[in-house]
Amino acid sequence: MIHLIRGFRDILPGEVELWQRIETVAKDLFEHFSYREIRIPIMEKTELFARSIGEDTDIVEKEMYTFADRKGDLLTLRPEATASIVRAYIQHKLYAEDPVRKYYLVGPMFRRERPQKGRYRQFYQIDVEAFGVAAPYIDVQMIFMLHTLFNRLGVGDTQAHLNSLGCPQCRPAYRQALMALLDKVHAQLCEDCRRRKARNPLRVLDCKVPACQQAVADAPAIVDYLCPECRDHFDTVTRSLDALQVPFVLNKRLVRGLDYYTRTAFEMQTGALGAQSAVAGGGRYDGLIEALGGPPTPAIGFAIGFDRLAEIVGQLQGSAPSGIGLFIAALGPAAQEKAFMWLSRLGDQGISVEMDFAGRSLKAQMKRADRLGAGHVLILGDAELQKGMAQLRNMTTKEQQEIALDGLVETLARELKK
Ligand code: HAM
Repeated sequence: MIHLIRGFRDILPGEVELWQRIETVAKDLFEHFSYREIRIPIMEKTELFARSIGEDTDIVEKEMYTFADRKGDLLTLRPEATASIVRAYIQHKLYAEDPVRKYYLVGPMFRRERPQKGRYRQFYQIDVEAFGVAAPYIDVQMIFMLHTLFNRLGVGDTQAHLNSLGCPQCRPAYRQALMALLDKVHAQLCEDCRRRKARNPLRVLDCKVPACQQAVADAPAIVDYLCPECRDHFDTVTRSLDALQVPFVLNKRLVRGLDYYTRTAFEMQTGALGAQSAVAGGGRYDGLIEALGGPPTPAIGFAIGFDRLAEIVGQLQGSAPSGIGLFIAALGPAAQEKAFMWLSRLGDQGISVEMDFAGRSLKAQMKRADRLGAGHVLILGDAELQKGMAQLRNMTTKEQQEIALDGLVETLARELKK
């Protein structure tokens, strides 16, 4: 028996309905704020991710599924969607007519992390990006949409963590202050962080090794080094969130695991998932589009961990299996043949319908109808066929009535809607 790959998983019927519902609620919300769906490949040239996410990040250093194809080109299964959506924006010159573009995407991502509850090697994201808006209001819209979506899904106990990561103007001063501290605690840092310190010291703040976390516990906060423009931007974000009554906490330690961020960075955290506390994360990345060869364009976005969100919503609601509308219990080959014709027409009419093809007893078929959660069962045997009638049993009230085979589709369409 061949099993699936470690860290990958099947999402089976029963659970899928929950995913569909979440996706419908999310898409409905995004569309109302003028975001449109975009679909892009799950594989890109490795360079795209290395250059955008950053060479010194865990994702690029250790987690990407990268391989050389037959011609030796290095390809990577996408570990996130932002870089690819930016690539598409630049490649198709989507900025030409109107630089303001708003997209969402739902799909699988791949990271070779250590699998555990809420952390998979193939996982799904609901990703949202807005290009071309510099105003802080779009930052607010992002966090407002997350907050609203979680509320609509009944997930109340998430908290938005918010920070500003500054811009190329204010970062050098912060970097210097941070370096002064890192030099002092150099001996306590892990191997990776010693290397990161030289190339990208902010990454040290994000290290999960306890000794490193302890070493940087007193690190200066970026928000204390913001230039006046970044300060203004951040103040408008927090003021507008307050005005919209979106709760948040300022988290001076939040740096995010990807290098492209500038200014506003945020995560939605929850206690419901043990160690994997981030259900969503995002932020502004005003320099990325230009860095990848596009025109200077401000941008911001977030991604929700779909697996994690489904887990939380599932815990709250339990899974409510949805039953079918009608089961046709056909007795004997002649009845079966007729029943199959009706099944086809009823399905076509929008009635969810199923039948048994094994020619089993009425009792066995009624049992299956029960298992499928059928609202009604249509019983059809030779005697009924001869009379031109069938029995319709309401599985909730247990009432049974005779209905004519003539005009059956119309009668059932009416009866089942009652
Ligand atoms: P990220 O923080 O790397 O951001 O991922 C976003 C969310 O994806 C996380 O908060 C988490 O819920 C989920 N996630 C990440 N890794 C895994 C995993 N191995 N298993 C299950 N869920 C996972 C990004 O990916 C950015 N592209 C977000 C963004 C969009 N920033 C701007 N635009």
